[in-house]
Amino acid sequence: MSDTASADPPVLRTRALSRTYGDGAAAVHALREIDLEVEGGELIVLLGPSGSGKSTLLNILGGLDRATSGEVWFRGTNLAGLNDRALTDFRRRSVGFIFQFYNLIPSLTARENVDLVREIADSPLAAEEALDLVGLGERMDHFPAQLSGGEQQRVAVARALAKRPALLLCDEPTGALDLETGIRVLEALVEI
Ligand SMILES: Nc1ncnc2c1ncn2[C@@H]1O[C@H](COP(=O)(O)OP(=O)(O)OP(=O)(O)O)[C@@H](O)[C@H]1O
Ligand SMILES: [Mg+2]
Repeated sequence: MSDTASADPPVLRTRALSRTYGDGAAAVHALREIDLEVEGGELIVLLGPSGSGKSTLLNILGGLDRATSGEVWFRGTNLAGLNDRALTDFRRRSVGFIFQFYNLIPSLTARENVDLVREIADSPLAAEEALDLVGLGERMDHFPAQLSGGEQQRVAVARALAKRPALLLCDEPTGALDLETGIRVLEALVEI
């Protein structure tokens, strides 16, 4: 990453980022002094064994959790310096999350699930456009129970994309899917 010709500052940068859960003898050092830089347009895959701190890192980068020490810069802002309200605002405006379980609202159609996040975003995509991007333009009026796991996850991808987030964080987005369906969801993500 350091030898790129781009003069743009990284979109995300951490310095000596650490996160410890608990204290004393029971302390768990989930992250120790992580230095990370992410450029605009970059797609990064984070691999590591269970318990190695992947979710902890994503949660801190996305403003869901705070570092114990160290710095986390998003563009010109140190997230550690934000109060809770400003951190919530950062999360709403700039971050899309996709988790292993799709967390769709069962009583709402695909379109309505996507519409929900549009209400808290600045200049969101139309729900139809976001669902088209993940290949679900034809299934917009279906309820989650009428969609396969992979389709439900693609609705969750559309929901995250509808915000047009600067940062899209995906924590095991294919963890609940079979191999083939997982590949299709990853292809949709890579394409986007
Ligand atoms: N709220 C918490 N309280 C205490 N310890 C925690 C908490 N959350 C995570 N941990 C610990 O921090 C370490 C990192 O956890 P994390 O969930 O980030 O790992 P992971 O790489 O995402 O694992 P997996 O692949 O299983 O999802 C683990 O040892 C975990 O037990
Ligand atoms: Mg995890």
